[in-house]
Amino acid sequence: MKKIAIVYWSGTGNTEAMASAVQAGVTEARGAAELFTADAFTADQVSAFDAVAFGCPAMGAETLEEDVFEPMFTACETELAGKKVFLFGSYGWGDGQWMRDWEDRCRADGAELVAESVICSEAPQEDTLASLRSTGALLAE
Ligand SMILES: Cc1cc2nc3c(=O)[nH]c(=O)nc-3n(C[C@H](O)[C@H](O)[C@H](O)COP(=O)(O)O)c2cc1C
Repeated sequence: MKKIAIVYWSGTGNTEAMASAVQAGVTEARGAAELFTADAFTADQVSAFDAVAFGCPAMGAETLEEDVFEPMFTACETELAGKKVFLFGSYGWGDGQWMRDWEDRCRADGAELVAESVICSEAPQEDTLASLRSTGALLAE
């Protein structure tokens, strides 16, 4: 059984709803999903999982959330070489630049981005939730 960590930060619940959909997809595919808020996950946990799904909305000016998620993710980066990683998050008025930058970072770290990242404007609609569930299932395969 594949073990998948889903690690997210969410200020107003949109990325949290996305994380729950990833978790549902992993579980439907009989994987073991563990959901962590960003403050509850540390770099030394990365190696215990077959894949890590990271979720963070666009914050600041097209950045990751700076106080909790960014330091946690920075610490994890040294553990991401060869790791299966999936990124997701919600945004507001931008065009997704934060996610393109984040993907570039992961590639530079040597992570294996296993599926196309999923982003959505504000609250996720049913099509987004369906994409997240199917990616969760893919992670569990
Ligand atoms: C302080 C702050 C900064 C934000 N910066 C951006 C931004 O740079 N680009 C963008 O597209 N949306 C930005 N947003 C909008 C959020 O990404 C959007 O509301 C998102 O749905 C929040 O997700 P959450 O409910 O998981 O916190 C910002 C929101 C806040 C509160």
